[in-house]
Amino acid sequence: MATILELSDIISSRTKLIHDELQASGRPQPTFDVIQDPDAITLDGELQQAQKELRDAAQKLSDLVAGPSNLLLEQLFSFHDPAVMRVLYTFKIPQAVPLTGSISFDDLSAKVGIEVSRLRRILRYAYSLRIFQEPEPEHVSHTQLSCELATAQPSIDMLGHMVDEEYPTGLNLAQALSRWPGESGPTNTAYNIAFETDQPWFKWIGTEPHRAVRFAGAMGFLSTRGINAIDLMLQRFDWTANCKTFVDVGGSRGHVAMAILRAFPSIQHGLVQDLPEIVAQMPKDAQPADLEGRLDFAAQSFLEPQPVRDADVYFFRYIFHDYSDAVCVQILDNLVPSMRKGSRLVINDFIVPALGTGCAIDERYTRQMDIHMLEFMASKERTVDDWRELVESGSKGMLKLESARVATLSFVKES
Ligand SMILES: C[S@@+](CC[C@H](N)C(=O)[O-])C[C@H]1O[C@@H](n2cnc3c(N)ncnc32)[C@H](O)[C@@H]1O
Repeated sequence: MATILELSDIISSRTKLIHDELQASGRPQPTFDVIQDPDAITLDGELQQAQKELRDAAQKLSDLVAGPSNLLLEQLFSFHDPAVMRVLYTFKIPQAVPLTGSISFDDLSAKVGIEVSRLRRILRYAYSLRIFQEPEPEHVSHTQLSCELATAQPSIDMLGHMVDEEYPTGLNLAQALSRWPGESGPTNTAYNIAFETDQPWFKWIGTEPHRAVRFAGAMGFLSTRGINAIDLMLQRFDWTANCKTFVDVGGSRGHVAMAILRAFPSIQHGLVQDLPEIVAQMPKDAQPADLEGRLDFAAQSFLEPQPVRDADVYFFRYIFHDYSDAVCVQILDNLVPSMRKGSRLVINDFIVPALGTGCAIDERYTRQMDIHMLEFMASKERTVDDWRELVESGSKGMLKLESARVATLSFVKES
């Protein structure tokens, strides 16, 4: 393991690289304050790698010098973070703070309905999460992060899903593991205990329109950031060479299909399939004018035979990881007969890296997803070998792994 001096060298060299590159290209330096164009400080290309190495090293260095007793204290008390985040969401506090200037605690208290001395405590805790700041005593203003929670609907939806569904579910994981030791199915999960239902997650959420719309928004949030951002996925498969028509299976409100069609004008048509209740809840303007004639939606379950034959690509994003191997094989059974020779199955899901290889922050995110799968679906994230085994033997050898690049796998039908 690197020493603290080696870690500090990594931090210093990567910090200099990022600083100098931002300066040379006339972009702002990183800040917690609200800035006009947050994209201007998004790091890409070589800087993204430097960012990962810097963050890994900085976190490791901080943890090392903290020592185990401080670290444990801090980790245990961070359990209050989601409690405070839930208050922010429930009382719509970010939306009640003006986008420019500040608001007094008294005025904010009157707006959100939390008594002022309690509100003060909530706000001052939130500052430690880089949410809000206090430009003058007893006045609160936005940081970039709180501003996003006030204005960006996908971020608000993700926060709502996390605090209202993930948080209560997580509290029940230990109980679920005790109640159903060993392998369990999608109705024997922490989520089933938390929400006192014996329905699988997607069936239940389909009966709760407010949650379903919010969850779709949360999916939109995940599509723009992290190792599985859509723009990264677009680069990991050769869409231009391999696709004129595709089906986005379980494609929700079509945000991914739209991104694919916009990025690759040579693609003629994309069809988004999802459950009837999800398609029925779609807003009237779901088909954007610029994609006229190239995008359609259909109610169709992937647990039934695929009616669209011979598409070039059958695209599944965040689907297979929701299910056990047995159900995945059922999905393949319904799909493969509709594929022609040369059709591709493109899976955009996490790939669990070998332990300790690559970026620790990315690995942690993948493992957080893996725990989410356990809690909600009794399913899992998979390594590249798991994926190969699942799809190749699940398709009785008809699909062969062609490529696996960070979170995007392509299988081609060979006969
Ligand atoms: C985790 S979301 C992924 C959505 C989208 N692919 C994305 O990447 O944002 C899973 C989607 O599968 C849909 N779904 C669940 N069960 C389904 C089924 N049996 N047939 C079709 N879609 C289903 C859900 O409604 C939801 O939109």
